[in-house]
Amino acid sequence: MNVEETKSNLSTEGMDLQAEQYEHISSTVLVVDDDTSIRKGLVHLLRAEGYKTMEAKDGSEALSLISVKTPDLILLDLMMPYISGLEVCRQLKSIEKTRLIPIVMITAVHELEEKLKAINAGVDDFLNKPINIPELRARVRSLLRMKHMNDLLDCADTVISSLANAIEAKDKYTEGHNERVSQYAMALASAVGLSERELKIVKMAGILHDIGKIGVPDKVLNKRSSLNKLELNSIHSHPEEGQRILKPLHSLMGVREVVLYHHERYDGKGYPYGLEGEKIPIYARIMSIADTYDAMTSTRPYRKALTKSEAIRELEDKAGQMWDPELVKIFVNLVKNNDGNDSIETDNVGGNIEC
Ligand SMILES: [Fe+2]
Repeated sequence: MNVEETKSNLSTEGMDLQAEQYEHISSTVLVVDDDTSIRKGLVHLLRAEGYKTMEAKDGSEALSLISVKTPDLILLDLMMPYISGLEVCRQLKSIEKTRLIPIVMITAVHELEEKLKAINAGVDDFLNKPINIPELRARVRSLLRMKHMNDLLDCADTVISSLANAIEAKDKYTEGHNERVSQYAMALASAVGLSERELKIVKMAGILHDIGKIGVPDKVLNKRSSLNKLELNSIHSHPEEGQRILKPLHSLMGVREVVLYHHERYDGKGYPYGLEGEKIPIYARIMSIADTYDAMTSTRPYRKALTKSEAIRELEDKAGQMWDPELVKIFVNLVKNNDGNDSIETDNVGGNIEC
């Protein structure tokens, strides 16, 4: 199908098909190959399919092109002079802006060892030379669909995070709280040996843990005197409300659980369900310590911030009641080892959450 036929069909077919076809004609594919005839052939074929194209004759030209315009998909030759396809792939997958661009490695090499190296470098798919045209069409279409879905998820995550920060900004005394909770929680999660994927869940959960407060009236959230029963119920609804807000986002499935259980207590006297001990998921037990530590060490209108030593004493006194005693021990060690710093050092864990 050429571009004109595709555009014409946009007005006659169903919405899903329209979206897919729009995606198709607006996608840009970068072809990187030092063999001019293969490169030109691929570019010609992709243009005939309706894609926009960019082309580079080697790895360094590809990297400089990508720094100016980000393609939606890259067809990358393995064997090239100067910078190999593997090295280009490694570099792109290590950069936040480019790590989600699907890369198809074009290779005449069939050895398993070489393919494993490419997979470790982050290659998403392979095409063997000589290139089979129907296979190329199918792989390009499928990877572009995946890229589009990732872009949508990325966008949804960003919108939700902005919403969480907007809620936090309503109260100047809690400014920066979500980010600090996220950092504390990641440091603790890393110290107990959770995987990088789990750290990403914890990082996002720290930012979003109180998103359900969007459903709590401002006058209740900002009330400085004691709350009546109705107001207390409204505050106590925020974990379930947060869980409901995140429910449509499949990419945040793991985060949802932390949001729901971050006010449970180790002795079973928390809310919303009164879960006890290790029945509370570990991410939520971690979040509860990080959340309370930051609240205790921040100044609020009705009280001054506790010092680090005072906050540590409080954590230790209530370990086993409020919090998991083993996690408290590890967290206290982290805080003590960072004496003199405002925050606990964490590795930078970025990117989309896939849980
Ligand atoms: Fe909360």
